Amino acid sequence: MSRASFTPNSPSYESPEESEADTGVQQTRRTVLLGALATTACLGCSAHARAGEDPPGSDERPQKGDVLVFSEGDKEGKPITAADLPAGGPPVHAWPKDPKTSVVRSASRLNEILIIRLDPAELDDKTRERAVDGIIAYSAICSHAGCPVTAWVKSDVGDKEVFKCMCHNSEYDPRAGAQVVFGPAPRRLATLPIALADGAVSVAGNFIGKVGGVQPG
Ligand code: FES
Repeated sequence: MSRASFTPNSPSYESPEESEADTGVQQTRRTVLLGALATTACLGCSAHARAGEDPPGSDERPQKGDVLVFSEGDKEGKPITAADLPAGGPPVHAWPKDPKTSVVRSASRLNEILIIRLDPAELDDKTRERAVDGIIAYSAICSHAGCPVTAWVKSDVGDKEVFKCMCHNSEYDPRAGAQVVFGPAPRRLATLPIALADGAVSVAGNFIGKVGGVQPG
């Protein structure tokens, strides 16, 4: 399965449904320095896109009816079920896959998704509306400079675990629509509406919110 290359200033994608802006918070000089180092390290390990080798549809945004499959690990390429998602996290990383053509939409890195299962009682009202049995999906692309959001760690500003982008330490709270709780990210992660059919997680609609970063790393 091909995997999209990493380019922090890749073009972003904005859903027509909603554009949301959040306010980032201040970070220390130390975290900026660490972030810059992380960005450099990440750029150094980038894969290269192989233009022309990806099947048709593999770079299209997630489509309603797509199934979500593991993007990494022992189960890479296999459909994600509710049973695969540990209660309370960590999130699973996923790609959308067209069930008719079996094309995995991994040719665009903007398609990488985080899926997490949380206690519905912990979710705010809007997030609970979008979740299915506490399961909610977000874009895995940081809104700051477009790094992949890879960490699930205790927040720097609270006692709960959050999504964290290690490039410049932005944190997002999945219980509150992935709003920014720390770091320079200017807005929340986009939400991907999902559905559950026979236990498998599928796409129920277009991204809500803008996908991708706003500035080069
Ligand atoms: S790209 Fe800068 S915090 Fe994520």
